[in-house]
Amino acid sequence: MKQLIEQVNKHLDEYMQIVYPEDIFKAMKYTLMLPGKRLRPVMCLETARILGADIEKAFPTACAIEMLHVQSLIHDDLPCMDNDDFRRGKPSNHKVFGEANAVLAGDALLTFAPQLIIEQSKSLTSEQIVKIIHEYTKFAGAYGLIAGQVVDIESEGGKLIKSPEDTLDFIHMNKTAVLFRLALRTGAIIANASEEIIEKFDIFAKKFGLAFQIYDDIMDEISSFEELGKTIGKDKNSGKLTYVSLYGLENAKQKFKNLIQECYDIIDNYDSKIFKEILDKLNNRIGSV
Ligand code: IPE
Ligand code: IPE
Ligand code: MG
Ligand code: MG
Ligand code: MG
Repeated sequence: MKQLIEQVNKHLDEYMQIVYPEDIFKAMKYTLMLPGKRLRPVMCLETARILGADIEKAFPTACAIEMLHVQSLIHDDLPCMDNDDFRRGKPSNHKVFGEANAVLAGDALLTFAPQLIIEQSKSLTSEQIVKIIHEYTKFAGAYGLIAGQVVDIESEGGKLIKSPEDTLDFIHMNKTAVLFRLALRTGAIIANASEEIIEKFDIFAKKFGLAFQIYDDIMDEISSFEELGKTIGKDKNSGKLTYVSLYGLENAKQKFKNLIQECYDIIDNYDSKIFKEILDKLNNRIGSV
């Protein structure tokens, strides 16, 4: 895992060159190169590998997905959204570069990511690239991530159109699970997997994504700045609809554990130390709460 993360970091650094006007590229690269867990790119690469592809083919897509994720983090921290001053253990993007450049850096990452896939995926077929870009645009926009963020923000004021349970599932599936779906689906496309296999990995990604956001909700309540690198207790203070606020800590933990078990059941069919390591890490952390 450590080695794969280092390879991702090396590629991210190479892909993101600082050119004129430097301010925007520096802002983009700042949050991108801070130490994130790199779960999405690693899971994209690992899916491609276990389904038989050479992982070199998957680096442009894996890094593009990390860029999209970083865009979502930069915008999520803005004063008009979660208003968070820290990210990945350091001041948030807008705290360093100002709000205007943080908005623009997010926009620029969102558009640079598909540019990177098209320019750097030299060993993929045109058909594969079109499929990957389709997945990217579908999940990054108002049919995915943005839909989740909109309902997340609306829920702060208690403005709900659906039941709290359905609203919460909608938020988590869209603001979080879609990026894991994107990572696994594109990894499978790079390996030329059948629709049936893509669907199987998609089911895993939905369960993992939901579990991961429940994990994040639990951590917001019980963790520390030192462990997470972001402000703790924000969800409660801003009245967010989360698994912990709706169901309580114990039920949230149980739901997390059930989902992670279902993830083990799917991935045990494949020889993947990486997926097992990721599941173990999250599972052990919640086990110790
Ligand atoms: C944070 O994601 C946003 C959520 C979906 C909860 P990560 O916890 O993967 O953040 P980094 O990439 O490690 O900073
Ligand atoms: C995670 O939502 C989803 C996105 C950032 C798109 P959160 O608002 O819970 O993420 P953190 O806790 O700020 O990382
Ligand atoms: Mg948020
Ligand atoms: Mg936030
Ligand atoms: Mg959170």
